[in-house]
Amino acid sequence: MGSTTSELRKSRGVIEFYREFLPVSDSTPVVSLGEGNTPLVYCPQLSKRVGRRCQVFVKNEGINPTGSFKDRGMSVAVSKAMERAAKALICASTGNTSASAAAYAARAGISCVVILPAGKIATGKLLQAFAYGAKIVAIDGNFDEALHIVRELGDGYQFVIVNSINHDRIAGQKTAAFEIVDVLSDAPDFHLLPVGNAGNITAYWAGYRDYEAHRQSTRLPAMIGFQSGCAAPIFHNHVVEKPETIASAIRIGNPASWKQARAAIAESLGAIGIVSDEEILAAQSWLAKHEGIFVEPASAAAIAGFFKCCDSDEAAYSFQKIPEASRIVCTVTGHGLKDPDAISQQMKELQPVAATVNDVRRAIGL
Ligand code: F0G
Repeated sequence: MGSTTSELRKSRGVIEFYREFLPVSDSTPVVSLGEGNTPLVYCPQLSKRVGRRCQVFVKNEGINPTGSFKDRGMSVAVSKAMERAAKALICASTGNTSASAAAYAARAGISCVVILPAGKIATGKLLQAFAYGAKIVAIDGNFDEALHIVRELGDGYQFVIVNSINHDRIAGQKTAAFEIVDVLSDAPDFHLLPVGNAGNITAYWAGYRDYEAHRQSTRLPAMIGFQSGCAAPIFHNHVVEKPETIASAIRIGNPASWKQARAAIAESLGAIGIVSDEEILAAQSWLAKHEGIFVEPASAAAIAGFFKCCDSDEAAYSFQKIPEASRIVCTVTGHGLKDPDAISQQMKELQPVAATVNDVRRAIGL
């Protein structure tokens, strides 16, 4: 009963699954690595924190092919670029976009240039860009400056820009909202996520609205975004010239989709909040140890924000008076292994013991 390769079922990606909601036609070449269809994990310990029969789910986007949510939009953006016979991609990045762009460019057989803030990219993400064969340029500047350069180069030199200013990226990222509604049979009441360049909050809101317009859901969630305290332009309502945070993925002072994020928050009756680096690291560790989900620091901003909403009347949004049995979804955007530096400090405490049962017993504390 052998089958030839061409008969094997191809793994599905966001384009095959949600084709009718995406800007593609039968003649669009599909560039996919099997992205999407990520787990929506019910989290009992997080649910307990809210109480009152509320249910909390984590949408684990770290389970995408390159370990972050960017792959959804990248599949659509690179497919559309190929339709237009593009020869090269370009992006600015805090790390994940560059990893994803490099992978999908490799898959499509075209070249990819990534412009990165020197010394500010998490180890795993930089490694990915090298592995997938991107042309990497590190600048003495931050993400906002890198994006400025990309906009200039993208205009003049045959590059397709695959940052989230590319509408095809946003279209692809909407599929995460579709999946959540498909699993829950309706939209959740609240949706929490980290905010950097603000493409993702824009995409989720567009996705929820599309699905409601197509009568796939009966309601819309309140969108609640979180920025890191010293990189919080939307929260403070002004550009931050020198953003700083341990969550390097969201170290952004002038988000490209600022206006769209503001609109999503206002229209959904949501909120924008801030969390500190300490709260981010504590939430990262808590989520790994209590729910078994290891995420990168930027992703943990959503969980840190969730704790604030549970614990404080003064949070951006207080969960203390939300209706019984509300459903809350937190998107965690990237895998913990991408950014091992903070955790790897703990490994220094590991001292070997002699290879005997007795020594091991003592080390365990038996
Ligand atoms: N979480 C992670 C892990 C990210 O990599 C990013 C953005 C965000 C959250 C914020 O999403 O920008 O759509 O608001 N990373 C971009 C990059 C900027 O270059 O990889 P956003």
